[in-house]
Amino acid sequence: MRDDLEIQYRELMENANSIILRMDTKGNVTYFNRFAENFFGFRQEDILGKNVIGTIVAPADLSGKDLRAMIDDLVHHPSTYMSNENENILRSGKRVWISWTNKAILDEDGRPVEVLAIGNDITKLKEAEAQILKAKEAAESANKAKSSFLANMSHELRTPLNAIIGFSELMKDGTAGPLNEKQKEYIGYVWESGKHLLSLINDILDLSKIEAGKMELELGEFDLRDLIKKSLTFVSERANKHGISLLTEIAGGVGTVRADERKVKQVVFNLLSNAMKFTPDGGKIGIEAKEDAGMVKVCVWDTGIGIEDSDKGKVFSEFEQIDSEYSRKYAGTGLGMPLSRKFIELHGGKMWFESEGKGKGTRFYFTLPFRAG
Ligand SMILES: Nc1ncnc2c1ncn2[C@@H]1O[C@H](COP(=O)(O)OP(=O)(O)O)[C@@H](O)[C@H]1O
Ligand SMILES: [Mg+2]
Repeated sequence: MRDDLEIQYRELMENANSIILRMDTKGNVTYFNRFAENFFGFRQEDILGKNVIGTIVAPADLSGKDLRAMIDDLVHHPSTYMSNENENILRSGKRVWISWTNKAILDEDGRPVEVLAIGNDITKLKEAEAQILKAKEAAESANKAKSSFLANMSHELRTPLNAIIGFSELMKDGTAGPLNEKQKEYIGYVWESGKHLLSLINDILDLSKIEAGKMELELGEFDLRDLIKKSLTFVSERANKHGISLLTEIAGGVGTVRADERKVKQVVFNLLSNAMKFTPDGGKIGIEAKEDAGMVKVCVWDTGIGIEDSDKGKVFSEFEQIDSEYSRKYAGTGLGMPLSRKFIELHGGKMWFESEGKGKGTRFYFTLPFRAG
């Protein structure tokens, strides 16, 4: 009966579709199943009694890891190698990766005498893993190269642009002598376009800085109330022209904050100019600020074209604009909102919006800690 059982076990081990081997505490092979023979290319008679080092394990793997030391440790402490992945070598010299399950075989006194090892080939998996890692590294370094290219280019582009803006402004104002009406009109276009291009370049530069992790906040103390009032003056002329009323509501608790003034100004300006851009003549836009849960909460709202649910994902994604007659009518890049949100997040705040749909207006919110950084 016992013999029968043993024969059955042996057959099972022989015919298993896994590598099964045993080795003693020196690492000498004492059992090697048929699958292992086919896999490694050693016949039983070639390998039994031989050490695994020099047969199926190279002294070191391709990364230089000392496998001799590992096997030495494994045969003495199999329990710490219960599941172990390591590089092995075939008789042909080909390196493979195997996922091993190791178990100590004890003598009557409970001392480990042998190790039973069951292994499965994971070479393909490892190769795929390495390829993914390589692709990821390549993508990351390409992205870094792109960011630094953009940062450099933006700088190179800004220098000549400053000359275009500066000198066209002087000409436009008549500082370089009188111009006729047509000349005045044309130089005005040069100046406007130059300014527009500069703000695009600045946005791209900011975005590439953020992506490269190089955007730093220049923290200082300023009055948020003043900043909001000043920002409103930038849009008030256009609001007047289009019959849009501007409403402001700043609660008592809002005052001095510690943040990056230039960036907060840019955020407020982006929000106000969007509200203006996407609100038809005769509408209303407003800005509110109040204290909320230890933060300042600012809301820029409008009674404009609104944002449909299906378009909501586009607002904060870079270079995306919702396709409408409005975005076609007004130039834009789709960089304003993603940048604004990143600026706010750098401060430890949040930015989001609400809109009940087409024609129902939009409310953009952001929060800012009173003391960022
Ligand atoms: N107040 C708003 N009302 C309606 N849609 C808006 C509003 N603000 C932003 N959007 C939508 O989100 C898009 C992204 O905004 P933004 O990043 O500022 O890009 P841009 O202003 O250059 O188009 C806009 O193109 C527009 O479709
Ligand atoms: Mg915008």
